[in-house]
Amino acid sequence: MPTKTIFVKPIIKEVLLIPQEIIRKKRNGHPLSEQELSAFVSGLVTGKIPDYQVSALLMAIYFQGMSPVETSFLLKAMMESGIRFDWKTKEAGSKIFVDKHSTGGVGDKTSLIILPLLIAEGLNVPMIAGRGLGHTGGTLDKLESIPGVSTQLSPETFTQQVLTIGGAFGAQTLEFVPADKKLYALRDVTSTVESIPLIVASIMSKKLGEGIGALVLDVKFGSGSFMGSLDRAEELGKAMKAVGMASGCLVEVALTSMNQPLGRTAGHTLEVLECIEIMEGKNTSQDTKELSLQLAARLACLARKQSDAAEFQKTYERMNRSLEDGTALEIFHKVLVKQGAQSQSLKLVDRSWIDGETQKFPVFAKTKGKIQSIETRNLGLALLELGGGRKKTDDKINPCVGLSQILKIGEATDSSQPLCFVNAATEADFESVRDKIVDAFFVVDEKVNVKCEDLIHSWL
Ligand code: URA
Repeated sequence: MPTKTIFVKPIIKEVLLIPQEIIRKKRNGHPLSEQELSAFVSGLVTGKIPDYQVSALLMAIYFQGMSPVETSFLLKAMMESGIRFDWKTKEAGSKIFVDKHSTGGVGDKTSLIILPLLIAEGLNVPMIAGRGLGHTGGTLDKLESIPGVSTQLSPETFTQQVLTIGGAFGAQTLEFVPADKKLYALRDVTSTVESIPLIVASIMSKKLGEGIGALVLDVKFGSGSFMGSLDRAEELGKAMKAVGMASGCLVEVALTSMNQPLGRTAGHTLEVLECIEIMEGKNTSQDTKELSLQLAARLACLARKQSDAAEFQKTYERMNRSLEDGTALEIFHKVLVKQGAQSQSLKLVDRSWIDGETQKFPVFAKTKGKIQSIETRNLGLALLELGGGRKKTDDKINPCVGLSQILKIGEATDSSQPLCFVNAATEADFESVRDKIVDAFFVVDEKVNVKCEDLIHSWL
């Protein structure tokens, strides 16, 4: 069995501890030791520490923060809570393993495009993605909106797929970073997402556990991001880069704007369709396409240690051709069919699953004018209320609800041009979110000069 050699076994440290004393210590602002964090993480994985105590510790961490040293202890304990992948084997040979991860936003769908683009370049992508978190959507929920697709792959299936076809979309499972599986689900419903140490530990425990050699992180700032300000996004990006580089993984960080949804759709099936359209060479979603190309090309160059601008340009153009000539789409199909998709349902002719059981309603602004800014988080919350997100850990999401044809900052709206369309299960559901959506768009007179910011602010 080739895969046996590529797993590093979990380290479970059964230490006697009193959970409420650890919560109390953090609540009172004291640092937790490696032993305390490791024991707490082991306890939450084995189920000896119940969800209510885990949630209390999360809230204490949210308010009191963690030093970089504590964060590294938490990350290590989370990473060691399950198996890890080690690709330095005969079978993996000289293959290069890479990944991209985003801190999350509304309509943020680039992973679906980036994975096939990287495989087309001959790189290998063991991508462990996430579900919806807070007001943001998750890659796994988007993919699982395609009939038959499963991201719950066993370590054997996951490694075999990566080694044979170049990549897989996987999830945290009971075997791989089980601690993040539990903590992620609890953070989603306890308002404890926006914490730098918790995000660093969550993202980097998955990425370092993947055993990759190069990583590009898309750290969002702006009204639909977890960090809000550019300064906080920069702090988060620097912290993740430091942890990655210290572990021998090459890391670059893009600080990108989430002051408006990415692309024209938000909602699981709608976003998958938008990505398929980009991979069919259509130019319907320029910002999504451009960000995907920039992140993927930068990652390919980083992995191959090519730092000059000419190499980047060549890689970018090759990747653009992969989108335009259907190569990326073919790889996307291949990966998803391997993960259970009925090949027919991915084809142009049969996308009835996309329409689902929803009705489509236009949302009009109160006045005509131009979009000056968008309260993007509220669009994510409207989607959650429509059934596209979870209010409790075991909620089932409705993948077909969402927003489409979303206007961008600087674009005009009037009585014939809606701000967006809403796919809702019922008219009553639509009515319940209509005002929230209208109020999320700040419309000004058409004569006002609206400044459109760059999508990528800078690289760290
Ligand atoms: N993505 C993750 O995997 N974890 C976070 O905390 C945020 C985004």
